[in-house]
Amino acid sequence: MIAAMGKNRELGLDNKLLWKIPADMKNFVKVTKGKPIIVGRKTFESFGRPLPKRLNVVITRNKDYKYDHENVVIFHDPQAAVNFLKDEGYEESVVCGGAFIYEIYMNEIDRLYLSRVDWQGEADTFFPPFDEGKFKLDEEIEFEATDETPFWKYEVYKR
Ligand SMILES: NC(=O)c1ccc[n+]([C@@H]2O[C@H](COP(=O)([O-])OP(=O)(O)OC[C@H]3O[C@@H](n4cnc5c(N)ncnc54)[C@H](OP(=O)(O)O)[C@@H]3O)[C@@H](O)[C@H]2O)c1
Repeated sequence: MIAAMGKNRELGLDNKLLWKIPADMKNFVKVTKGKPIIVGRKTFESFGRPLPKRLNVVITRNKDYKYDHENVVIFHDPQAAVNFLKDEGYEESVVCGGAFIYEIYMNEIDRLYLSRVDWQGEADTFFPPFDEGKFKLDEEIEFEATDETPFWKYEVYKR
C-alpha cells in the first residue's frame, strides 16, 4: 500500500491531491512501476489516464462502468480483484487508494509506504487509521522543506 497524508491524515480534495512534491511522485513511480495497482474508481479518474506500464485494477460498484484499455481491468468485488491477481501469478500489487480502498485492504497488506507531509488544510478524503502495533517501521527518510515543498518524511512499514 502506498499513500501520502497530511498532518491530519488529509489525502485529497475535490478528487485532486493536496500538494506537489516531485520527489514523492518519483518515489510513487518507483514503488509501483511494473506492478499492478489497485485503485478506487475516483482515484483512477483523478489520474486522467491509466498509469502507464502497469496493470490498473479499478474497483467500482457500477456494473456498467467500462474503460476500454489493455492495461485496465475492472472489478466490483475487492476480494475478486485480489484472487484475479493471484491467479494471474502477480507476486506483488500496490494498493494506491483512495480512502475506501485503503480501508478495504488494510488488513491484507504486507508493506506500507507512507509519506507524512507537514501540511494541514481543507480536505475531503483522509487516510484511515492503521494498527501501528502490527507493523514495524523499516525505513525512514526525512526531506527538508524547500521554497516549493513542505517538509515530508518517507516511511516504510513491514507487517
Ligand atoms: N494522497 C494520496 O496518497 C492519495 C492516494 C489516492 C487518492 N488520493 C485522493 O483521494 C481522493 C479519492 O479517494 P476517495 O476515497 O474519494 O475515492 P476512491 O477510494 O478512489 O474511490 C471510491 C470509489 O471506489 C468504489 N468502491 C469503494 N468501495 C467499494 C466496494 N466495497 N466495492 C466496490 N467498489 C467500491 C466506488 O466506486 P463507484 O462510485 O464507481 O461505485 C467508490 O465511489 C482524491 O482526492 C485523490 O486525489 C490521495
